[in-house]
Amino acid sequence: MNPVNVGLLGLGTVGGGTFNVLNRNAAEITRRAGRGIQVSQAAARDYDPEGLPGIDAISVSDDAFTVVDNPEVAIIVELIGGYEPARELVLRAIANGKHVVTANKALIATHGNEIFAAAQEQGVMVAFEAAVAGGIPIIKAIREGLAANQIEWLTGIINGTGNFILTEMRDKGRDFADVLSEAQALGYAEADPTFDVEGIDAAHKLTILASIAFGIPLQFDKVYTEGISHITRADVGYAGEFGYRIKHLGYTRRTAKGIELRVHPTLIPERRLIANVDGVMNAVLVKADAVGPTLYYGAGAGSEPTASAVVADVIDVVRTLTADPENRVPHLAFQPHALADIPILAMEDIETAYYLRMQAEDKPGVLAEVTRILGDGGISIEAILQKEPAAGASEASIIMLTHVVQERQMNAAIRNIEALAAIHGDLTRIRLEHLDCD
Ligand code: HSE
Repeated sequence: MNPVNVGLLGLGTVGGGTFNVLNRNAAEITRRAGRGIQVSQAAARDYDPEGLPGIDAISVSDDAFTVVDNPEVAIIVELIGGYEPARELVLRAIANGKHVVTANKALIATHGNEIFAAAQEQGVMVAFEAAVAGGIPIIKAIREGLAANQIEWLTGIINGTGNFILTEMRDKGRDFADVLSEAQALGYAEADPTFDVEGIDAAHKLTILASIAFGIPLQFDKVYTEGISHITRADVGYAGEFGYRIKHLGYTRRTAKGIELRVHPTLIPERRLIANVDGVMNAVLVKADAVGPTLYYGAGAGSEPTASAVVADVIDVVRTLTADPENRVPHLAFQPHALADIPILAMEDIETAYYLRMQAEDKPGVLAEVTRILGDGGISIEAILQKEPAAGASEASIIMLTHVVQERQMNAAIRNIEALAAIHGDLTRIRLEHLDCD
């Protein structure tokens, strides 16, 4: 049988890795797929042929549309990233009857509903394993491996750059900006690194995970998103004194009232396995009713780890090229007509525990005023730590952990605490999840 022709859009970090993995492991891939798979044409404006042995043997165009319109190409692998022209290219590939493999989380999270509807119409596949958690096969695990279960909640360290920064700050006391530059040099960070540090990249990935976990449409605009740029080394240290680590988590949970969908720095107990996922590594913890908790760990970014997921998708597509479209695994795990319109909860309606830090005048009665406000708001305190003022200073740091409470109640209490004359500046609030798996 003739090999399947792939059109590769992008020869950067992930595109280059994909080209190399496909070539290097060609024999093994053919044994798995049942057919050869070859890149017959690529598109890139700028690339380094040095790191791409064999690239001279194929045609490389600087116009991606010529690849998408090439009748010889059966599968388009979109590794350009970003919203446009990626969206236009993918929709044109689908209209041309081609299958698509993409690592583009921004594209899937924001335009996935439109793209999957078009693919459904054309009877083609759009595969996106590499869009979430790099090389970890988490889409396949949730969509297929956990298909028997009702998923209760899932959480993940799903931005490698952010995790790398937090780990280096904690372990080596390095500066935020310095670690971010290294992550960029290593090819982990997004083209616009604010996507990493402000949580947007993680929100894209969480949108996709929530959709396949709960069978809901992709709703990126409803994700509460907070990044790591305000996390200080002091907070990392105090969290450690309480036995917690600060991780940047995507978290989604199905409750009786709706679905929580949120990305923010989170204190988690250091004894949890996921709390010990460091550097650029990612992990996703899924709590499901039949199997219980399962944890998926691996490289969340980087050239060949991400290529591993891209190539696995290409193999999957090749294996099911001749399958009846109705009998393929649905894009979002649930049959398109069975997606549910479960409400996404507003942030004020979610429930979580909290870490609070405030700067207080070092005089009698201040702590009592703060605890009275929390008590009046129905907020129960789990632990308190007070740090004496530094030499020559007059402000003490008060750090507290609370029990679980609705965010609305916590917002009101924070407003009242910040209004106290003895409390200086803004209070720092970091959410806390115990991740109990009982
Ligand atoms: N910038 C992303 C990260 C790349 O750091 O996780 C992988 O999606």
